[in-house]
Amino acid sequence: MARVVIEDLVKVYPQKNGPDVRAVRGINLTVADGEFMVLVGPSGCGKSTTLRMIAGLEEISGGRISIDDRLVNDVAPKDRDIAMVFQNYALYPHLSVYDNLAFSLKLRQVPKREIDERVRSAAALLGLEALLGRKPRALSGGQRQRVAVGRAMVRQPKVFLFDEPLSNLDAQMRGTMRTELSKLHARLRATMIYVTHDQMEAMSMGDRICVLKDGDIQQVDEPLAIYHRPANLFVAGFIGSPAMNFFRGAILPAAGQEAFVTDYAEGAVPLTLALTAALRERAGERRGQPLVLGLRPEDVHLVTGQPLAGALEAEVEVAEPMGAETHLYLRCGGAPCVARVRSADRYLPGQTVHLRFDLERAHLFEAASGRAL
Ligand SMILES: Nc1ncnc2c1ncn2[C@@H]1O[C@H](COP(=O)(O)OP(=O)(O)O)[C@@H](O)[C@H]1O
Ligand SMILES: [Mg+2]
Repeated sequence: MARVVIEDLVKVYPQKNGPDVRAVRGINLTVADGEFMVLVGPSGCGKSTTLRMIAGLEEISGGRISIDDRLVNDVAPKDRDIAMVFQNYALYPHLSVYDNLAFSLKLRQVPKREIDERVRSAAALLGLEALLGRKPRALSGGQRQRVAVGRAMVRQPKVFLFDEPLSNLDAQMRGTMRTELSKLHARLRATMIYVTHDQMEAMSMGDRICVLKDGDIQQVDEPLAIYHRPANLFVAGFIGSPAMNFFRGAILPAAGQEAFVTDYAEGAVPLTLALTAALRERAGERRGQPLVLGLRPEDVHLVTGQPLAGALEAEVEVAEPMGAETHLYLRCGGAPCVARVRSADRYLPGQTVHLRFDLERAHLFEAASGRAL
């Protein structure tokens, strides 16, 4: 097992026509021994490039990568003691599952008995024992994916790298495989670095999550820490589904008191939100400056029965019943707003509802920099 240390890592793809692509812009990250680290971010943010540099499949433009305190910048991929599972895990179609699993060990001239032991133990862990004689074409997508993971496992690498390994599977199989990979990690306790664009996958699997955007790290922390304390507007909007509600505005005097007043939206009355002590403190000296107030959909509550004083009026645009809960897409003071509500009640487009914002749980961001306050 191993610790992976990435220092000032840079990747520039030179372009003949046009400016060079700066895919990775000097990132620093330490993946602890036995940790499941997820790199997450939108398509094109540099996840695969980073992973491929760790594997040695892509040349490094700058910086250092160490595995177990050994600098591997110039170490060949096969000598890095790493196994990688790709989205397009090409299995050898003419080989059985057994031989697919055994292939890399045969190449390394591992003794036959040891190959057999390793293949059978991986197959047992992954539930592939009954399929060892089959060819890949006779397997389901999920089973093929398990063989691809098994191929990495038999090599007993120091570090496992996964590049969106589940994106080719249907939603249900993805959910199942997600759980299986988490269980596998719990058993092997190996260092794993897992790349995905899916924030749900990141949240549910990672010991820690590293959020990337445009080749830069935005935040590294445990999933719930990122969810509850996003470092900036990008992370706040990227992690969580439905996404956090954002209200642009400023702290202004309103009816003798200071309040967060949303930007005027055409045809709508701006919202005036009372400041909690915490919001007041976080805003500091930024009165009158452009800010963004963020509120998770679960912190937008419906006021039912007699509308209470201070409740906000909103109009339902779309109601999406999810089963356990309903996502209500609303318009409130001219601003779009999503609420997570109980699914017992039915809602119709155009219907008026009343809301209470749990401002104790609100986030505040500087509009210009996006930085969380
Ligand atoms: N071989 C390449 N030549 C030029 N640009 C590349 C090459 N590979 C990737 N890129 C660019 O580098 C950026 C990061 O790509 P990538 O690491 O594949 O992103 P991700 O895996 O996060 O979707 C993108 O802008 C992509 O277009
Ligand atoms: Mg990629």
